[in-house]
Amino acid sequence: MLTLGLESSCDETACAIVKSGKHILSNVISSQDIHTSYGGVVPELASRAHLAIFPSLLSETLQQANITLSDIQLLAVSNTPGLIGSLSVGVNFARGLASGAKKNIIGVNHVEAHIYASFMEAHQEVSFPALGIVVSGAHTALFYLSSPTSYRLIGKTRDDALGEVFDKVARFLGFSYPGGAQIESAAFYGNSEAYTFPSSNLPGYDLSFSGLKTAVLYAIKGNNSNLKTPFPILHETMKNDLAASFQKAACLTITQKIPSIIKNFSCKSVLVGGGVANNRYLRRALLQVCDDVPLYFPSPRLCTDNAAMIAGLGTQLFLEKKINTLTPRARHQWENIFS
Ligand code: KG4
Ligand code: ZN
Repeated sequence: MLTLGLESSCDETACAIVKSGKHILSNVISSQDIHTSYGGVVPELASRAHLAIFPSLLSETLQQANITLSDIQLLAVSNTPGLIGSLSVGVNFARGLASGAKKNIIGVNHVEAHIYASFMEAHQEVSFPALGIVVSGAHTALFYLSSPTSYRLIGKTRDDALGEVFDKVARFLGFSYPGGAQIESAAFYGNSEAYTFPSSNLPGYDLSFSGLKTAVLYAIKGNNSNLKTPFPILHETMKNDLAASFQKAACLTITQKIPSIIKNFSCKSVLVGGGVANNRYLRRALLQVCDDVPLYFPSPRLCTDNAAMIAGLGTQLFLEKKINTLTPRARHQWENIFS
């Protein structure tokens, strides 16, 4: 079964062809650089850029897979969560293609797909129940998975997402958006003991990163400063030390929760997804806390936003005749979009 995946929930436009839910025949991603000078994604610009690029991106994707639209059996499109204008562009483009080519179409939850990316690339059979960890620019959440398509939310951030806080601290340090990878590079040369930053440890499984972000801001500008006070020019060593100390505290916020979740939910494996899953410090820290429980990460191209994960999960849901199970809102949108 060949599935065409379409993704446009934020600032990446992506198309992919996936065979039997697992084998990627093509995976084309176009990242919008128009947002860099604004220090974050401008929703209206994002929607317009998706609209402009989808047709040529689709041609390239079909060409790379060496197929035509008529060879496709299913279209899978991310329909929630994300920027509403950007999602609408993808969903309407998919609906047009599906009705013109008389193909089935399925909506996919973008956050669920980030976990599925990890499952898709696993080289051995994944045992369930599993813990799913999503660490992206917009979401940070922990899921109990009884199968690759059955999820239950067990904890999430109460404020910023992990990627979002990496991007904000990157801005404090003078890096361009998105700055997560630049923080990782600077941290490599820094001393993670140079600053003592707080890792929040809320009761239960929820997470919080806003206190950490403020602590970094105060370390740079002085106590009781705010975002309006100008940022001082930082010496290279100080930047590296701040990045390393921040990265350590940010990753600990998550990793300290993992052993008790594995124990309390009898998890037999851990699947990680989302852009921050690219971070090698986080990968090592997770490996340490997971002990002998197998840990799965997607390859770098499948960590950040892509359409292969949408096509993969879409195929699986279609074959299982399942609708999204993550949130009532997802189910509601599913019913609305395809009615
Ligand atoms: O999953 P993703 O592509 O988009 C969302 O669904 O939000 O994740 C993008 C996020 C950005 O915040 C980016 O800074 C972060 O992932 N990121 C990283 C790294 N690579 C990407 N954060 C830390 N270390 C990295 N190496
Ligand atoms: Zn994402």
